[in-house]
Amino acid sequence: MSNYYNMPKLPTEASPKVEIFVDDRAVMVPGDTNLLEALKAVGIETPHVCYHPYLPVSGNCRQCLVEQEGPRGRMLVISCYTPVTPGMKIYTPASSARVKNARKATQEFMLVNHPLDCPICDKAGECTLQENYMEAGQNEGRLRPEYGKNYHGNPEHQFIDAKGQLRGGKHVDIGPRILLDEERCVQCDRCVRFMRSIAKDEQLQLAGRADHTYITTFPGEKLDHEYDLCVTDVCPTGAMTAKYFRFQKRVWLLAHTPTISMDDSLGANIWLDYADGRIYRVMPRCNPEVNRSWLSNTSRLAFQQFDKNRLPAIDASALQLVGGKVALVAGGACTNEDLAALKMLKEALGDRAELFGGSLLKVNAPDGIAKSGDPVANRAGMQLMGFADVAELLKRAGEFSNLITVNADLYGEDAAAAKALDKISNRIALSAFDDATAKKAKVAFGIRHWSEVQGTMVNSLNILQKLSAAPTCPDEKLLPAYEVISALAGNKFNSACEAFKKAREYVPAFADITYDAIKSTGKLLGGNA
Ligand code: SF4
Ligand code: SF4
Ligand code: FES
Repeated sequence: MSNYYNMPKLPTEASPKVEIFVDDRAVMVPGDTNLLEALKAVGIETPHVCYHPYLPVSGNCRQCLVEQEGPRGRMLVISCYTPVTPGMKIYTPASSARVKNARKATQEFMLVNHPLDCPICDKAGECTLQENYMEAGQNEGRLRPEYGKNYHGNPEHQFIDAKGQLRGGKHVDIGPRILLDEERCVQCDRCVRFMRSIAKDEQLQLAGRADHTYITTFPGEKLDHEYDLCVTDVCPTGAMTAKYFRFQKRVWLLAHTPTISMDDSLGANIWLDYADGRIYRVMPRCNPEVNRSWLSNTSRLAFQQFDKNRLPAIDASALQLVGGKVALVAGGACTNEDLAALKMLKEALGDRAELFGGSLLKVNAPDGIAKSGDPVANRAGMQLMGFADVAELLKRAGEFSNLITVNADLYGEDAAAAKALDKISNRIALSAFDDATAKKAKVAFGIRHWSEVQGTMVNSLNILQKLSAAPTCPDEKLLPAYEVISALAGNKFNSACEAFKKAREYVPAFADITYDAIKSTGKLLGGNA
């Protein structure tokens, strides 16, 4: 049998609507998708374990069974791999005891040798097995106690526990970032399909047969890839766990802020999961047009530095310009609101000021998953607002007497190239971090990090995306860059909404957009950015 399966076709706004019958009731559903998605579109959730909307369908768990009327009567089919056809007659547990029993039996098989780990399992609270079990009526186990658990997976890690039961490997180190709990695995194959079809680096496999099947790496190999932490997201159980997050926090104690990862111009959509004033983890936030459900390790783990080496807020009166020309430089993580404030400051200073933006880091090729390769996240916003590239400033540095950098660590990015800026005597750095550029500055002024501000950015696909602020700023006195800069310009913005109004004056493509109307998945701008 081929190891390759089809990607699911997901419904869109353009999907044709067809009539089908669900539990003898006529409903209109998207006609170009699978039954599981079609039922979801009309509010009927179908439990599933192996199905994932952005992975090829393997149809191996049988948790999504429904009944379909066919030429030989009603038969059980898996909804994740059954295409919608007009007029089809489908029966769910709402009307079919057979479907209810089949799903229950599937779940019972899945749980029969599953450990009772929920109280200490990192997946508890967001575990598909738990959710399915609670929804299916919390059926009593029928396992006779004298048999106990009887795990037959990877023989290398089996052990006999204190009760004399045969158990599977716990915290098996399968790579630098991931631990595997073998007996929590339900062999759904999602992690294998992720590595094969999305990461395009087949590093995991299902070995063994039948109830001896287990997940493993290839002999002598480790799971080690820039996207390997995504397997902890797609894993429906607590089998794949991230080392950095293990036992750090119960997930139901985390609050979630939807925002944008400002380290790359694709602007991957993310959740900042926080508690007690600090971020515990960063998770991909599904956006079908941007990063789907994926996030690189680099973007995911960057938060570990967000609260380190921070610059304190100082009195704004320290920000003094001298005579002569002023170079205003925006870093890649500056929002449109920061850019609008800089543009307003340039207008206030007149012809003596010029706007520059970008970074001295190399632009890489897109990886085709969740990164464009361009470290200047809001490059499109800078182009829309007429910022020249920072390389231009390096050539003409001798013309300027004042330099204001905003979250732009040019000395840290390329110390040799940035040396040209030494010619500018009055260097002022507005930065979240006490970085190399802040250290070289005459005045270093602490501001908020992008994870702590509201605002917008335009990504490499020309989508206007919205950032939200997690309440994790280490010092309430730190302000967003747009507030500090707009105050310098003599017209302080008190909110991102106010700053965006100014950005609308500068960018015709924003003219008809209000801040509140930007959806969580962003707004595609007309024309090229
Ligand atoms: S994977 Fe973890 S949370 Fe889910 S049922 Fe198993 S032990 Fe419980
Ligand atoms: S480790 Fe997780 S994702 Fe991989 S097969 Fe097992 S349950 Fe599925
Ligand atoms: S979700 Fe359909 S078979 Fe697994």
